[in-house]
Amino acid sequence: MDTDKTIIIGSDHAAYGLKEKIKDLLFTLGFRVEDAGTDSEASVNYVEYGKKVAGAVSKGEYPRGILLCGTGLGMSYVANRFKGVRAALCSDVFSAQMSRQHNDANVLVLGGRIVGDVLAFELVKTWLNTGFEGGRHLDRIQSIDD
Ligand code: RB5
Repeated sequence: MDTDKTIIIGSDHAAYGLKEKIKDLLFTLGFRVEDAGTDSEASVNYVEYGKKVAGAVSKGEYPRGILLCGTGLGMSYVANRFKGVRAALCSDVFSAQMSRQHNDANVLVLGGRIVGDVLAFELVKTWLNTGFEGGRHLDRIQSIDD
């Protein structure tokens, strides 16, 4: 598991409120959080924020990131275009766990209009606390970028 407790987070307007709550959770967990925006509920294009977060993870500036939009779909389309980014759209705890164990997901994507606050917090904690198993899964994830 990555012991670097830094993380970059971003959302559009549809999940701005949940992003702020997740930031509080991350601070409580001892993370240093870079907020890529947005900074209000005013309507914006999710692509801008998805690119900021996924770009930073792709370049190795942050080991992991969290992205949120209304459904999480738009953010996952954007993030998974970036080399080296494995963005996992999760709305159940098992998927959040497996996205780390088998896929070494480095971006967690949540839909602010899909998951409630309590489930979102569980997803974030599970995702952060689960390590990559490596082994046979390493070749598989490496071949994604080939
Ligand atoms: C915004 O209305 C919505 O389209 C966006 O948050 C996201 O769900 C896109 O995939």
